[in-house]
Amino acid sequence: DDTGNLSDRPPVITIMGHVDHGKTSLLDALRKTDVAAHEAGGITQHIGAYQIVTPSGNKLTFLDTPGHAAFTEMRARGADVTDIVILVVAADDGIMAQTVEAISHAKAAEKPIIVAINKIDKPEANPDRVKNELLQHELVPEDMGGDIICVPVSAVTGQGLDNLEESIALQAELMELQANSDRRAEGVVVEAKLEQGRGSVATVLVRRGTLKVGDIFVAGSESGRVRALLNDRGEQVKSAGPSEPVEVLGLSGTPEAGDELIVVEDDARAREVAAFRHEK
Ligand code: GTP
Ligand code: NA
Ligand code: MG
Repeated sequence: DDTGNLSDRPPVITIMGHVDHGKTSLLDALRKTDVAAHEAGGITQHIGAYQIVTPSGNKLTFLDTPGHAAFTEMRARGADVTDIVILVVAADDGIMAQTVEAISHAKAAEKPIIVAINKIDKPEANPDRVKNELLQHELVPEDMGGDIICVPVSAVTGQGLDNLEESIALQAELMELQANSDRRAEGVVVEAKLEQGRGSVATVLVRRGTLKVGDIFVAGSESGRVRALLNDRGEQVKSAGPSEPVEVLGLSGTPEAGDELIVVEDDARAREVAAFRHEK
């Protein structure tokens, strides 16, 4: 999905599923398995997108549940950042209305789906029932002769999380995701807000190139110069490469989720692009 000098990039994973099936709990639990996070001696989550390093050394980028509508909205605006969808289904509840909705969104976007059958620690958990229900939505689990990977997990006990991470890493490997880090950055605004004392702050997922402190950019119809970059632990960094989520300071105004960020050569060009986008 890029040109020039390509190298591997981490997959971007969006978690979807029915209300209360454990999307957020699962994200929290996965974060705790993050080797780097343990090394840093604690986790402080500053932004709604983050990267973990699996025990076997694979980087995975997760977008915190944007909601199904947001997923479709971002796609409609060309900000199709998701590589893999994790469909969370509670093993005690099975496929529900929003699970079906998530399946159709993922299918429409032609994204590979990995099913996390969650809450298997519960006595009422019935993973086989979930698999049979998946069949009814044309998702055929691997052990039923299909190609849908289903991983039983518990966000509470941590059971199966290593399998889930490895399944994601394997899927990503098959996809041969690559980007050129040696060019002006392009990215997508995942969220943005005006913060007291900090000004407009945007969480940006870099898609290609490397975003650096000092870069002049346009995000949506706002322009700016990168004053500071913070990683998902709130630490200042000098740059961010492909699939890396980063908080960007130095915006003139607040862009919207789904807006594209591009780095340009100078202020004049930034004003020109911003004005053009403003008219649209
Ligand atoms: P929404 O964002 O509201 O759609 O919910 P969610 O899908 O993010 O679910 P959330 O993580 O908020 O979990 C809902 C409830 O299920 C909470 O009370 C969790 O503690 C519980 N829960 C989540 N995962 C598990 C699990 O693996 N086992 C058990 N027993 N409970 C779980
Ligand atoms: Na919830
Ligand atoms: Mg949640």
